[in-house]
Amino acid sequence: MSQQSRGYPFWFGGVAASFAACFTHPLDLMKVRMQTVKPPPGAKSVSALGVLRATLAERGIRSLYTGISASVFRQMTYSLVRVGSYEKMKLHMSKESKPSALRLLLAAMVAGGLGGVAGNPADVLLVRMTSDTLRPPEKRYNYSNALSGLIDLTKTEGFKGLTRGIAPNSLRAVLMNGSQVGSYDFFKSRLIGQSIPVLNVRLRDNILLHTIASALAGLVATTVCAPADVLKSRVMSQSGHHSVLWILNHSLHEEGPRFLFKGWTPAFVRLGPNTVLLFIFFEQLKKAWDTLSPRQLQAADTRKPTTQH
Ligand SMILES: *[C@@H]1O[C@H](CO)[C@@H](O)[C@H](O)[C@H]1NC(C)=O
Ligand SMILES: *[C@@H]1O[C@H](CO)[C@@H](O)[C@H](O)[C@H]1NC(C)=O
Ligand SMILES: *[C@@H]1O[C@H](CO)[C@@H](O)[C@H](O)[C@H]1NC(C)=O
Repeated sequence: MSQQSRGYPFWFGGVAASFAACFTHPLDLMKVRMQTVKPPPGAKSVSALGVLRATLAERGIRSLYTGISASVFRQMTYSLVRVGSYEKMKLHMSKESKPSALRLLLAAMVAGGLGGVAGNPADVLLVRMTSDTLRPPEKRYNYSNALSGLIDLTKTEGFKGLTRGIAPNSLRAVLMNGSQVGSYDFFKSRLIGQSIPVLNVRLRDNILLHTIASALAGLVATTVCAPADVLKSRVMSQSGHHSVLWILNHSLHEEGPRFLFKGWTPAFVRLGPNTVLLFIFFEQLKKAWDTLSPRQLQAADTRKPTTQH
């Protein structure tokens, strides 16, 4: 991904991610539902198709977009801080010399952690809003949108509510980028020069190799992050005060270790389109910015030579 290293507004990442979330929200919704819903007695788990059918039965296509305001709120906090602080750190590091891959990876992980903390309240709202109709009526939160939900959450649960599940949430955010960047490079170096049997092509450093390597990296990242993600969703969806460890122990006893990978399929499917859309919107915003403010760009250019590669 070519990254911004000139003077673009720090909030571009958040806006681009919000646009992307408008397309991938239904997959987020399905993921949370699969992670938190209790399977009917006798059944081991609920399939993605079963969840999709049940969701559509509620209010048709519209029900796939339940909680979209929380999704946008999440991107405007989590992704805004994540992408914004990563770009700032990168700019700072490349002042003297080209930063090493390890330093970039560490920066991405720190940025992910900061984003996880900033986005936590929105994540609580997102988890609760997307799974609200699955709760018995007397246990529903009834947040009508992210803003009134935020007020309600602050009033009834205070600081504890806003930071609910913050440990697994930031752990997930740190692991996400770390495992993606790390395994991407690993797969790329392993695959380069290999030939694909059926297609009879040799992999070179081109878009085909990049696509395969990022799909495999996404596979690894989704799997590595799944346990933290499920625990985060379960801690956030409850209004009680069970700790992460209590929920882990309880769920392991009730459902076995498989529960740690619930919602894996929509989480994996979501990753590809989300990354591509974020990238496209990010580039378009930068292009529009360059067109609209040529002077600003020039000023930034003389201050800082481009480090894109
Ligand atoms: C890692 O995170 C940074 C900033 O959060 C982002 O720009 C970069 O694209 C991410 N890398 C991967 C492989 O997801
Ligand atoms: C949410 O609405 C249901 C009725 O649809 C009600 O039974 C429940 O008490 C409400 N929950 C809250 C927290 O207001
Ligand atoms: C774990 O859960 C089981 C059953 O739910 C319970 O019997 C056990 O005491 C719990 N262990 C801890 C350490 O809480």
